Amino acid sequence: SQILSNSDLKKMVDTSDEWIEKRTGIKERRIASAEEATSDLGVKAALIAIERAGIDAKEIDLIICATLSPDHLCMPSTACVIAGKLGINDVMAFDISAACSGFVYMLSMAKAYIESGMKKNILLIGAEKISSVVDYTDRGTCILFGDGAGAAIIGATEDKNEAILDIHASADGRYGDLLITPGCGSKFPCSQETLDNKLNFIKMQGNDVYKIAVKTLTNDVIDILEKNNLESSQIDHFIPHQANFRIIEAVRAKLNFPIEKTVLTVAKYGNTSAASIPMAMNDAYEEGRIKRGDLMLLDTFGGGFTWASALVRFGGK
Ligand code: ACO
Repeated sequence: SQILSNSDLKKMVDTSDEWIEKRTGIKERRIASAEEATSDLGVKAALIAIERAGIDAKEIDLIICATLSPDHLCMPSTACVIAGKLGINDVMAFDISAACSGFVYMLSMAKAYIESGMKKNILLIGAEKISSVVDYTDRGTCILFGDGAGAAIIGATEDKNEAILDIHASADGRYGDLLITPGCGSKFPCSQETLDNKLNFIKMQGNDVYKIAVKTLTNDVIDILEKNNLESSQIDHFIPHQANFRIIEAVRAKLNFPIEKTVLTVAKYGNTSAASIPMAMNDAYEEGRIKRGDLMLLDTFGGGFTWASALVRFGGK
């Protein structure tokens, strides 16, 4: 419900509008109110997805939520909280932790559940009140992140024009410390000392993350296109994780995606982690850019390190 602009951040840390825009492309980000939790953002996105899919909420037989800012650290899962708020009271529901790659990771799970016939209508939600784990005295991170949520319904189809064609998802745990929320888990349980040392907030070695992100996002796209015998010119919409405009631009230019085919929302929302890809898809959909049958290439990278790419023909109405 609130907008945090670069000028607002200037009053909080030693930074400038020009520095933030030049280095990241971000102009503003949304911040949830004190009363709103991650699940509240997720519920709003879920209700829109359910309405657009034209199904009854009771037809949903699996709810997965990807988030790095869950309502509660251990339990109940944010997916369970969302299920309760939606009034869906007998459904399999759980969270996944894959940082910014969460949405595409969930998509791969949904594909497997649907193709095996185990589930029929799956609600995926990427939701973040990331402002709750950001240190607003750390100029290296607080300028980047924003709150938000995006959701999708994944169902079965025989139509190749509305299918999830392929997904690559991977991780390399050797880089975990470069992007980490160190405290308030089992390693450094929540204590006065943990809080005094601000271990409950995101810590990032931005420059190292940047270099690996560009390389990984680029290679991931090359791999998935090659494996599916596709050229970048056959992609209708390139939808990258919205972390930093410079990262997106480096990947886009290297892979020859025209800027008109690249979905960009980073200027107005910043990095919303697991919500970033579905929010970008939603903006493009609401602008009338994405139509049924269009081929979308999703590409994401995040803490873990995790990364994932997906080729999806949009099956929305
Ligand atoms: N305002 C002004 N100066 C700043 C700021 C700021 N907000 N932040 C850092 N600086 C300074 C640094 O202190 C440094 O100063 P020095 O040269 O005097 O030491 C200088 O600017 C350069 O710092 P770098 O960290 O090298 O700046 P860089 O160009 O790398 O930009 C940024 C920093 C924007 C964080 C970039 O590294 C980045 O985007 N990294 C990747 C983030 C990302 O993609 N994360 C992955 C997904 S997130 C997830 O999974 C949750």
